[in-house]
Amino acid sequence: MDSTTLVIFGASGDLTRRKLIPALYNAARKDRLPAGFRLLGMSRSVLPTPEFRADMRQAALGPEAPPDAEWETFAQTVETLRGDPTSADDLGQLDRRLSELERAVGGSANRLFYLATPPHVYPEVIARLGTLGMTDQANGWRRLVIEKPFGSDLPTAQALNQSIHQVLDESQVYRIDHYLGKETVQNVLVFRFANSIFEPLWNRRYIDHVQITVAETVGVEHRGDFYDRVGVLRDMFQNHLMQVLSMVAMEPPSSFDANALRDERSKVLRAVRPIAAQAMLTETVRAQYQGYLQETGVAPDSTTPTYAALRLYIDNWRWQGVPFYLRSGKALPAKTTGVLIQFKSVPHVMFPLPPGRSIRPNALEICLQPDEGMHLVFEVKVPDTMSEMRSVDMDFHYAEAFGPDAIPDAYERLLLDALAGDASLFTRADTIELAWQLVDPIQRAWESAGGLGLTTYPQGAWGPTAADDLLASDGRSWSSSCMEHRHGPSA
Ligand code: BG6
Repeated sequence: MDSTTLVIFGASGDLTRRKLIPALYNAARKDRLPAGFRLLGMSRSVLPTPEFRADMRQAALGPEAPPDAEWETFAQTVETLRGDPTSADDLGQLDRRLSELERAVGGSANRLFYLATPPHVYPEVIARLGTLGMTDQANGWRRLVIEKPFGSDLPTAQALNQSIHQVLDESQVYRIDHYLGKETVQNVLVFRFANSIFEPLWNRRYIDHVQITVAETVGVEHRGDFYDRVGVLRDMFQNHLMQVLSMVAMEPPSSFDANALRDERSKVLRAVRPIAAQAMLTETVRAQYQGYLQETGVAPDSTTPTYAALRLYIDNWRWQGVPFYLRSGKALPAKTTGVLIQFKSVPHVMFPLPPGRSIRPNALEICLQPDEGMHLVFEVKVPDTMSEMRSVDMDFHYAEAFGPDAIPDAYERLLLDALAGDASLFTRADTIELAWQLVDPIQRAWESAGGLGLTTYPQGAWGPTAADDLLASDGRSWSSSCMEHRHGPSA
């Protein structure tokens, strides 16, 4: 039998407890982990194995969970090693321990290294793995998963890619963007390319504009210090929103192969029109929630935005002239992520309409989370009237169709894919650099403007009024998207 060991560097961090262990445990229960799987958690302050297992049990099952045989079986595969992954001695010790475990199993000895350390040590850990020969694939595959943030701008992302490519081939590298692991984001591909009726409409001829909203109710929580250095553009747009945008706007790939898919996602980002310096004030909006400056870790005179909205255009045949409005922010009224595909109005209205009444154009709302599903909005005739119309919603909810717990956490899928060697849902070096190339000029313009153009919004409001003005200047308005359906009359 072959063995496969997942080594988590930075195992004492929050990510391991909150995401990785619960995802792996779920995968184990579904019998989806490879045979001969083991997990080795390493960090300078990681708990000894028995305490770590107990702590992870709480994280995965909750504090009051009754005895669980499946957990006990899974926990037997987990152990820890205290050490500094930037130290050659400690990595040497890890290598010896891994070899011991692998010898006991025999066969090929595969290793998946997961970098969940603070990002500034990534280059050092990667270089050390290389010099110690730990990326060498003679005895089994070696892969590296890297958590975000991947750099803080284009030069730092390029430098990180270079240090990775000095010791690893791109095919060994798995850059995480957990949005790509979300079922509903993957479903955008299935929806578009496994159905024949939508794709013919998916272009500038029929689509008026597209909105992508990623709204969160939380503020910066305990991450004020980190967040204040990063801001919403780097935290959410460079990665998550750009990936959602590329899924929505990409051309049909020729096959369901990692590189074919990633080529098409990259092409979208390459075609996004850069925002000219003089247009920054009209094409972008940024704001801070009121009370942000009082958050722990935030500089009292900080100009870091917690909300942003952008108007983007994709310069290609399919999307010429179609605005893509993107917005994301913290301390908003709802946690909701959705894409609105707003179709054009009918070319000619033949119905007599009462004054002030117009026909609502069709819309497709893809609710990525929560209450994952889709809504197709169209007009119908109100029964027993001459020609009165009303918009109705034809909807699909994952929970109704597949059960309330059908959607696994994104990390489960991503970990299984990395273990299986499928990089489709991971970001390739060129894509990540393209995304930085788009975001960098905006970030620089905002930083050099300081407080100029930065507004505030009350916590629990849908961002600043300037974001509404951005759309109003085009005669449009934001859709509260998936929220209405959830709490509205048709919910
Ligand atoms: C992370 C950001 O990448 O995504 C966080 O750093 C944000 O600030 C989170 O809260 C949102 O993820 P999700 O899956 O809850 O939408």
